[in-house]
Amino acid sequence: MSGPRIVAATPAAVAEAARALRAGDLVAFPTETVYGLGADADDPRAVARIFAAKRRPADHPVIVHLAEPEDVGAWAREVPPGAAALARAFWPGPLTLILPRAAHVSDAVTGGQDAVGLRVPSHPVARALLRAFAALGGRGVAAPSANRFGHVSPTTARHVADDLGDAVGTILDGGPCDVGIESTIVAFTAALPTLLRPGGVALRDIARVLGGEPSGRDVRAPRAPGSLASHYAPRTPALLVAPGVLGAEVLQLAERDERVAVLARTVAQPAAFDGAWHAAPRAPEAYARDLYAALRALDAADADAILIEDVPDDPAWLAVRDRLARATHGVDDDRD
Ligand code: TXA
Ligand code: MG
Repeated sequence: MSGPRIVAATPAAVAEAARALRAGDLVAFPTETVYGLGADADDPRAVARIFAAKRRPADHPVIVHLAEPEDVGAWAREVPPGAAALARAFWPGPLTLILPRAAHVSDAVTGGQDAVGLRVPSHPVARALLRAFAALGGRGVAAPSANRFGHVSPTTARHVADDLGDAVGTILDGGPCDVGIESTIVAFTAALPTLLRPGGVALRDIARVLGGEPSGRDVRAPRAPGSLASHYAPRTPALLVAPGVLGAEVLQLAERDERVAVLARTVAQPAAFDGAWHAAPRAPEAYARDLYAALRALDAADADAILIEDVPDDPAWLAVRDRLARATHGVDDDRD
C-alpha cells in the first residue's frame, strides 16, 4: 500500500490538486474550520467517491465550496436578502448558507433535496485551490469534513490521513485549522432563516446582521448520560462532568482501576492521577481550535472513558456545547 500523499500546499501542489479535482479525483484540503474532502461538485461520480471514502450514507448532502461570493448565483436559483446580507458580512469565512438549488445541481450533492449548501472559505490554501479549479472551468468543490463518518472532524493533515488512509489520493497540508470547529449553517428554505448548526460565526453576529436571531433547533446544554454502556463502540465513551466534581470523580474512578482520560479546562490535574490529562484553553475560540485534536489524542489513550469538564452555559460557548453534546451523547444522526 502506498499510503496517502500528504503534500505541503505549495503553489505547484495546489495547481496539481486543482487538476486532480477536474479529473474526478478526491483531494483533501485545509479550510479555516476543518479539513474538507473535496470532489468536483459537477461530477456526480466524483461526489459519490466522497461517500465511499468516508463510509457515509449517500443521501447526506454535501456543502459546495466556491472561490468567490459572486459564484453563488451559479448554484442557487434565489438568494433571499437575509442570505445576501450574511454572505456580505461573513464570506469568505466559516458560514454555510442553505439556499434553493439551481436546476443543474445534482442529487449527489443535495442528497435529493431542493436546497444546496454553499460556502466561500477564507483559508488561503482553500481559496487558492478553488481559484485554480475555477481557472480550469470548475464551478465548485463539494466537500464534507474529511473524517470517517461518525468521527470528529480533522483539523490537521495527519488527522485526515489517520481517518481516510488510502481512500484519499492527495492531502494538501496547510497546517492546523484556525477556527477548529465547522462552519455555522443557516438555511433559507422556509419563511424564516433557520440555524441548522452553530459554528465558526457566532450566533450573536448572525443575529446582528439579520436583525434578530434565526429560528433554530434546540442546541441547549448537553446532559451527562447516566451510564457509560449507553455509548457505542469502538470509540472511547465520553461524558461531561461539572467542574466542581471532576477532580473527585477522576480519583474515584482511578481507585476502582477504571482507566480514564480527561479533558479539563479550569480544573488542575490531581497529583495522584497519572492517566491522560489534557488542559484545554479557557477562552471559547481557543478551546474550539484545540478541541478535535484533544479528543483524538484522548481517544488514542485507550481509556475506558473520557471525562470532559463541562463548559460555561453561555452564548459564547454555543457551538462548543453543541460539539460536546455530540461527542458525549453518541448522537448518530449528524456525525457527518
Ligand atoms: O466547516 C465546514 O462546514 C466543513 C468544511 C470542510 O467546509 N464542512 C462540513 O461538512 O462540516 P459536513 O458535510 O461534514 O457537514 C455539513 C452539514 C451536514 O450535516 C449536512 O447534512 C448539512 O451540512 N448540509 C449540507 N448541505 C445541506 C443541504 N442542502 N440541506 C441541508 N443540510 C445540508
Ligand atoms: Mg462533518
